[in-house]
Amino acid sequence: MPEDFSEWPAYKGLLAAFQASALEAWTEPPAAQLWRAFDASRHGDWPKWRDVLRRLPASAPSRVDLNADLVRIEGALSQEDRDSAERLLRELHPWRKGPYLIHGIHIDTEWRSDLKWRRLAAHIKPLTGRTVLDVGCGNGYHAWRMAGAGAKLVVGIDPTLLSLAQFLAVKHFAGDIPVYVLPLGIEDVPPNLQAFDTVFSMGVFYHRRSPLDHLLELKGCLRLGGELVLETLVVEGEAGQILVPEERYARMRNVWFIPSCLTLISWLKRCGYRNIRLLDVSRTTPEEQRATGWMRFQSLTDFLDPENPELTVEGLPAPRRAIFLAESA
Ligand SMILES: C[S@@+](CC[C@H](N)C(=O)[O-])C[C@H]1O[C@@H](n2cnc3c(N)ncnc32)[C@H](O)[C@@H]1O
Repeated sequence: MPEDFSEWPAYKGLLAAFQASALEAWTEPPAAQLWRAFDASRHGDWPKWRDVLRRLPASAPSRVDLNADLVRIEGALSQEDRDSAERLLRELHPWRKGPYLIHGIHIDTEWRSDLKWRRLAAHIKPLTGRTVLDVGCGNGYHAWRMAGAGAKLVVGIDPTLLSLAQFLAVKHFAGDIPVYVLPLGIEDVPPNLQAFDTVFSMGVFYHRRSPLDHLLELKGCLRLGGELVLETLVVEGEAGQILVPEERYARMRNVWFIPSCLTLISWLKRCGYRNIRLLDVSRTTPEEQRATGWMRFQSLTDFLDPENPELTVEGLPAPRRAIFLAESA
């Protein structure tokens, strides 16, 4: 596998895809920007993960199903190669987002990310033919589902290299599908690109120290009239209500702003979005987030007060997540 991202098989079609879409203004990523970002965030375990990717057995897919809860890839693989693929995929532990079924290997991830997708899929503007950005896409589970829903091009960005390695492993088996995950943060996307028809930001907002700037960054990625799909933690309460945890929230260190739904709607308005709708509010359950054989660390039930599951171990309201739709005006 070459050291320059632009030469990797997984990125073969990227330059052409960018040039053929409204993304031609984003001129650098296929080469220099990608490589710089990768180099800057290079993780100590990267050589190990890259080696895993190199050793994955080759197999052309005979069936790729991106339209079901399990992202499923099938093809001819000997039992020996299948066993070796499973061993290698397990080396990319912990698998947080999924689930996947790859050559019969069920990657039962910490999150049933399909449940989030089910909550929104029927309500967003149809993705057929659209150019889509998934900010903070993790290993790309939802990006595959977006392609399954008909998107012309899906660009996922996520600075976490283990997630990127997992995406590249899935892409290795999925073959030539216009889904690309780039090792970039939202701050690396050129400002005011105004190029994407739909932008997803799911599970990212509360990690941003400057939440209104995040809403404006997302707006800058959207073409006029494009759709934002925003999913984040919320608290119950009136307009103006916001929780800013003093330290950790559900054991997470980097949680900043958890607004009420009405507060977030007012922020979206203030940032110039229109046609703002609250789609869903759901408590996170142990059915949706739990430890599995593919994610052996602690999970939701360890982060909640054992005496009172309405509270986190820090005594704060237990995770409740909302999905908002809005248009860039
Ligand atoms: C809670 S996960 C959400 C994953 C997925 N979007 C979902 O909803 O299941 C948050 C993701 O945001 C990524 N992230 C952190 N900082 C980011 C940034 N500056 N730009 C884009 N993504 C970022 C993290 O690496 C992580 O994968």
